[in-house]
Amino acid sequence: MPPWVKPLGVTVAFLAMIPFAVIARARVTASPDPRIHIIRDMDNQAYFKAQSSNPLFADGRAMRPPVPGTVARGEDELDDHRYRGTTPDGATYVDAFPEGLTVDAALLERGRGRYQVFCAPCHGVAGYGDGPVHHQALAAINRGRPGMEWVTPTSLHAENVRGFQVGRIFHVITNGVRNMAPYGAQVPVDDRWAIAAYVKALQASQRTED
Ligand code: HEC
Repeated sequence: MPPWVKPLGVTVAFLAMIPFAVIARARVTASPDPRIHIIRDMDNQAYFKAQSSNPLFADGRAMRPPVPGTVARGEDELDDHRYRGTTPDGATYVDAFPEGLTVDAALLERGRGRYQVFCAPCHGVAGYGDGPVHHQALAAINRGRPGMEWVTPTSLHAENVRGFQVGRIFHVITNGVRNMAPYGAQVPVDDRWAIAAYVKALQASQRTED
C-alpha cells in the first residue's frame, strides 16, 4: 500500500462529515433569509399583512370588509320558514313544516333521539320539565348552595305550550327563550325541525282528554 493512501482516506472521511455537520447546524439555528428556492413561481412577493394599513383606501385598512349585503356562500338562510320558523314578514310563527321536509316515522325517530340528547336533561324524557338537570339543581339549592337560582324548565304539556305552532317550538330551540339557552349553534336546522315534530308528537301522546 503506498504511503499516501492512509492520509488520503482520513482526509476524505473528514471532508465527508462536513455536509452533515452543516445540516445539523442549520436544523437548530434560525436564519432571516428565505430557503434556497430555485423555482420561485410567485411565492415571494410584496403583500399587505393582516391588520396592517394601506394608504390606498380611505379608511387606511389593508383588510377590506365585505361589501354590504354580502352573503357567505352556503349560508344564505333567506328562507324565514325554514330558518326562523316564521312567515316572511316575521309577524307570525308558521304552523307547518318547511318545504322538502317529510314528516314521517324516520323524522320522528330522529327527533326523539335528538330530544333525548338536547332537551330531556332539563325538560325530562316525557316533557314535564322534570329532567335530571332540574333535580340536580333543586338538590344543590336544598344543600344550601349560596347564590344559586334556578328557573324550572317549562312543562311542554303546559296549556300555553301545547298551543305553540311548530314554528314557535323551532324558534325556541333555535334562539332560546328568557332563561333557556339557544341550541341553534349545536343542532343542525333539520334536526331542530325533527325535535319540533317530536315535541308535537309528545304533546299529543299525553293528551287523552280530546
Ligand atoms: C339547560 C336546561 C334546558 C334545556 C337543555 C332545554 N330547555 Fe327548554 N326551557 C328551559 C327553561 C329553564 C325554560 C323556561 C325559561 C323561562 O321561562 O325563563 C324553558 C322553556 C322552554 C319552552 C317554553 C318556551 C316559552 O315560550 O314559554 C319550550 C317549548 C322549550 N323550552 C323547549 C325546549 C326544547 C325543544 C329543548 C331541546 C332542544 C330544550 N327546551 C332544551 C330549560 C332548558
